[in-house]
Amino acid sequence: MNILVTGGAGYIGSHAVQRLLRDGHTVVAIDDLSLGHREAIDALTDHAGDRLVFEKASVGETTRLETLMGDHDIDTVFHFAAFASVGESVAEPLRYYRNNIAEGIGLLEACNHAGVGRFVFSSSCATYGEPADEHIPIRENCPKNPVSPYGQTKLDFERILEAWAEARRNADEPVAVTMLRYFNVAGCDRTGILGEDHDPETHLIPVALEAALGKRDGMAIFGTDYPTPDGTAVRDYVHVEDLIDAHVRAMEHMQRNGASTPKAYNIGIGNGHSVREVIDSVRRVSSVDFPVRDEPRRSGDPARLYADSNLVTRDLGWKAQITDLDAIVDSAWQWMQRHPNGYEAT
Ligand code: UFG
Repeated sequence: MNILVTGGAGYIGSHAVQRLLRDGHTVVAIDDLSLGHREAIDALTDHAGDRLVFEKASVGETTRLETLMGDHDIDTVFHFAAFASVGESVAEPLRYYRNNIAEGIGLLEACNHAGVGRFVFSSSCATYGEPADEHIPIRENCPKNPVSPYGQTKLDFERILEAWAEARRNADEPVAVTMLRYFNVAGCDRTGILGEDHDPETHLIPVALEAALGKRDGMAIFGTDYPTPDGTAVRDYVHVEDLIDAHVRAMEHMQRNGASTPKAYNIGIGNGHSVREVIDSVRRVSSVDFPVRDEPRRSGDPARLYADSNLVTRDLGWKAQITDLDAIVDSAWQWMQRHPNGYEAT
């Protein structure tokens, strides 16, 4: 198949490009390189021959994308490109609405012009906000009350996709949409080609690994008074390769089943680890002890978020394969040790 991957040079998008190439597909990757890394694409090009095309482009460049989709006979879009930092979205909401919503609409217009109706969207558990205890583990029908502009943009784009799909269906145009609500994506490609490289890094596992590597002077635990067994926040850490497998299954399912109403699925391993458990894992995997200080809660951080993923198991046969926290952490540790300065120095 021929797949357009937006955000193809980013952490998650590059892992999708790798998997699709490995499966024998042809990939057109676009990225505006504002956050993505050209080096990630270069690392994949060596193995891809002419099955990988990269263009520095943003998802809002409708005419250009329409041409790209037509030229390469694209049949499916994986839409990863987005700003995805919760705290930043609170400080700069307009940037988030412009990038995640307005630019995304440009992409859908290009799909219309090029006649592309199969679409997999990177949504987020941030669409749920702070679920009440009775909704843990979180099912797809849990009330949606995002507490950040980031989460709101993901929920709004889900609604836009639903309206887009209905309009295409009414016009007898082919359409099939899957929306995957990611929990905490972690780890790296276990062949060691791709990694996670954000600037600044704020995510728990890479922050702790940077502390183990001596790149930072220890780290903070944000909140030790949550109503959880050890007082720290609990999250569902899903390995990036498992996450991408869900996209591939969604694409194959949509191809087999033709037109369908948009479906949303939670993508998580189905249980949670506390911040302290993650730090313990990083200490075990790296064999390095590093200083940890207790700090107040980060605003907008829910106490517990983990998925009930039964729906995606039932419909797509997906289940996380890498469920051992140390294995997830180790995959990230291997890459970070070899790339202490991220992609820059490769
Ligand atoms: N944490 C620390 N210290 C750190 C970094 C994080 O204690 O230095 C804590 C956070 O407070 C949180 C947990 O570790 O309790 C996980 O934090 P991350 O920043 O790694 O991830 P989040 O759960 O905040 O964010 C993730 C995704 C977002 C998504 C969000 C939904 O990265 O894209 O889940 O809540 F929106």
